[in-house]
Amino acid sequence: MSVHVRVPATTANLGPGFDVLGMALGLWNEIRVAPSPRLDIVITGEGEGILPRDEGNLVYRAMQRLAAHVSRPLPPVHLEMTNRIPLQAGLGSSSAAIVGGLRAAVALLDVEVDRGNLLRLAVEMEGHPDNVAPALYGGLVAVTVDEAGPIVASFSVPENMRVAVVLPDVRVSTEEARRLLPTSVPHADAVFNVGRAVLTVHALTQGDFPLLARVMRDRLHEPFRKRLIPGFDDVVAAGKAAGAAAVVISGSGPALAAFAREGHETIAQAMVDAFARAGLAARWWVLDVALF
Ligand code: HSE
Repeated sequence: MSVHVRVPATTANLGPGFDVLGMALGLWNEIRVAPSPRLDIVITGEGEGILPRDEGNLVYRAMQRLAAHVSRPLPPVHLEMTNRIPLQAGLGSSSAAIVGGLRAAVALLDVEVDRGNLLRLAVEMEGHPDNVAPALYGGLVAVTVDEAGPIVASFSVPENMRVAVVLPDVRVSTEEARRLLPTSVPHADAVFNVGRAVLTVHALTQGDFPLLARVMRDRLHEPFRKRLIPGFDDVVAAGKAAGAAAVVISGSGPALAAFAREGHETIAQAMVDAFARAGLAARWWVLDVALF
């Protein structure tokens, strides 16, 4: 028996929705698993030659976590990953590994585990819910966690919504990006973000880009993290000058996500050019919102 799962990239925060909002994007990692005489991991694409190919591999660890959850032994497996989500980019590669491993183990062990429990396990492993939730639910989600576990809601976005993603050639670890955040913020900044987070969800569900341009702004993380992204202000300005309604740090960065009704290729190219002026090469994608 062999199983195949696909898991999408995700962009977390969406500007003002720090640790709460996330969106699944159409850039997919693929995982194929089959029982095997011994553990054997083959990685192609992003992370090839870098990611561990032993019991420390995150996909494999998630499979073991799921097996423990259902009290079943995990047999040795042949695990093949085709990775398209870049590492340490702010595009949810570790969440994709966790969600992919959990789902692969569900399929391999042929067990029923509902999505709410998969989310709980994934949040326990990842620490933050806003990448794992869209990786598991698709589309646009809001998620938070209380003492009983994650609380998640999905929102519909227009079918033709696309996002331009630009990734400069600089690594940012989530741990490093979180260390830069203050332990408390002014009340006025919290209020600034609360209103804009709610209105960002509304603007995305309606495809209301003029509204998005006004509300997709943040005071809780971007002001502290932008120093990790050379040329940040110029790149954002270039994206907006090329037609983006908003440009935000994707997750903890360094990828930037640009939201617009149209002209995504032009916007991405303008941002790549601005990164080049700051001395950085950059890759770009124009991605659909991943729905499933
Ligand atoms: N919300 C998280 C952060 C996303 O910005 O640190 C990365 O997991």
